[in-house]
Amino acid sequence: MQTLTFANHDQMPILGLGTWKSKPGDVGDAVREAIRIGYRHIDCAAIYGNEAEIGIVLEELIRSGEIRREELWITSKLWNSAHGKEQVPAALKKTLADLRLDYLDLYLVHWPVATRALFPVTGGDFFSLEEVPLSETWAGMEACVAQGLTRHIGVSNFNIQNLATISRDASILPEMNQVELHPFLAQEQLVAHCRQHNIQLTAYSPLGSGDRPATMKKSDELSLLENETVNAIARAHGYSPAQVLLRWPVERGIAVIPKSVNPTRLRENLAAAELTLTAEDMSELAKLDVNFRYVNGEFWTGEGSPYTLDGLWG
Ligand code: A2P
Repeated sequence: MQTLTFANHDQMPILGLGTWKSKPGDVGDAVREAIRIGYRHIDCAAIYGNEAEIGIVLEELIRSGEIRREELWITSKLWNSAHGKEQVPAALKKTLADLRLDYLDLYLVHWPVATRALFPVTGGDFFSLEEVPLSETWAGMEACVAQGLTRHIGVSNFNIQNLATISRDASILPEMNQVELHPFLAQEQLVAHCRQHNIQLTAYSPLGSGDRPATMKKSDELSLLENETVNAIARAHGYSPAQVLLRWPVERGIAVIPKSVNPTRLRENLAAAELTLTAEDMSELAKLDVNFRYVNGEFWTGEGSPYTLDGLWG
């Protein structure tokens, strides 16, 4: 499989398994099956509430010799309620204990949002970025590298301005920005900025995350999997619509982390990394960009919150 190469020559498989929304009871079997059929990159996060179950499976497969730790690329993310220089290493140690690992390959700041509560309800549940600056949180991320807890650090859901803020005083520059990215949200400007600054990208919600909670959905939502252009390209090549959607970021040199807990779809998605799309397919898909977000961040911008959608996405 194609890989993304980091400055120290570490290589991240370009297609990984997403685990957001993979329920306890399902996620362990999905990760075991994924690794057995050839996935080598697993994308996790503390807030997904399933790292302990993933850890049991990772330990089982490593102990039995089915896989070596060095063959895997494991990413996780710092939740909003653990921002701040002192809190970050402790949060990562908890994730490592849950995942039953000594180190991560990549640790990301999940959102440029700092909170007092796991899920803020009122304005008072938030910290502003003046109270808990992103640069302080980033210093905590750097400390994690110094302590050998993670090989690489990066961010998620960061806009160009937020990337600049943490880069200004950084001793380690962010190496990854994981963002929502698909043909309805091509992120051309952000991709160009990241390329210029040697920041790799990972695309989340590549299939439109149809299994999001109802509270995160709108009634008039666009469907990626049912889109006519996507389906026409799929028919022309004998691919599935999901495979077209997963190959699209890979053609752009962007990692992608489709979530599935279904063995057939796990295989179908992994195979997408080895398919090809023509230049004409790519330009047809580029025409679908309408700046549409499935994960629009509204949950950080309620009454009394110091965060706004403009501030989040720029
Ligand atoms: P399931 O886990 O039952 O396979 P995203 O990666 O954008 O968050 O999307 C995940 C959603 O897409 C889940 O509901 C997942 O269901 C579904 N899904 C995963 N792979 C495919 C596929 N190849 N075709 C259709 N739906 C898929």
